[in-house]
Amino acid sequence: MDFVGGKPVILNLDQRKGKMENCLSKTALAVACFMQNTGIQHCQEISAYTRAAQITQGVLGEHFGWIIELATMKVKLRHLALTSAIRATGFKRLLEVACGLDPRGFILTDFAVVDTDLSPIVELKNNIASVLIPDHPNYRVREADATYAEDLLSASQLLPPGPITISIAGFLTYLPMSIKHLAMQAVTSVMDSRPGSVLLVTSEDFLTRTELDTWNETPKGRILLEKIPEMAGQSSRIFYNNAFPDEDAVPKFLHMHSLDFCHNRQIDLVQDFQHGITGADAKKFSAAKIWEMRRAW
Ligand SMILES: C[S@@+](CC[C@H](N)C(=O)[O-])C[C@H]1O[C@@H](n2cnc3c(N)ncnc32)[C@H](O)[C@@H]1O
Repeated sequence: MDFVGGKPVILNLDQRKGKMENCLSKTALAVACFMQNTGIQHCQEISAYTRAAQITQGVLGEHFGWIIELATMKVKLRHLALTSAIRATGFKRLLEVACGLDPRGFILTDFAVVDTDLSPIVELKNNIASVLIPDHPNYRVREADATYAEDLLSASQLLPPGPITISIAGFLTYLPMSIKHLAMQAVTSVMDSRPGSVLLVTSEDFLTRTELDTWNETPKGRILLEKIPEMAGQSSRIFYNNAFPDEDAVPKFLHMHSLDFCHNRQIDLVQDFQHGITGADAKKFSAAKIWEMRRAW
């Protein structure tokens, strides 16, 4: 077994070839790599244990340096804003959908948390949790395909009674429209089983083709348009086609799922979490929001 900083390396991907059957699961490793220098608790260890940087570097090649710089700030803001929005709901019961390797559930020690994802990530996260948070009795990881209501419902039943917060980050955007609908059906079934529950989704989950067209206008944007899908095992064309056509399509989609977003608190990542971000960088992130939604009845 390998060791990093005196601790065992939990994942050696070379030994696990064939086990990451869902390419989208590899994006969790990319996020873990981007999180490693955010200063957020546990991120360095998670990245080291999973060898996230080596794997991500393999995909990003010569672009690794500038992409990691850009992405570090983005994932940090996303993590902090989402955590703050989760706290603001007032419910100390959290269901994370497609949680990846984000350490939020490890950090919210005053919450009951159920992290859900597909089996390779669940296995990894359980291993990591047993090393990093051996004494967090209210934390659980469960395998749940987010497009199956039964899976999410049974995972949510591990939480104590009462309304819950459900969070989704960096997941919907990779799915074709028909599968995005399945995921929303599954999530709203959980909301209906827990009246009063709140759904939080990051705006990047609602990526539009209109926005992607603007990426296409710059050399770096074009590289991102190639590399982000590549990390998810998708072609740029599929990634582009999976996006919402334009901004109007997003509220229409949410209406179809009877989600009341009219009174959503949308958090401006830059205004609420400045962290010394100014000028051009601030502009880059000013469109990033978190949508807060409840069922319309
Ligand atoms: C980009 S990662 C995002 C992880 C995390 N939410 C974050 O913000 O760091 C996407 C995650 O979706 C998970 N995933 C893909 N398909 C899924 C499915 N059908 N059900 C549940 N999780 C899924 C992958 O395993 C991966 O962990």
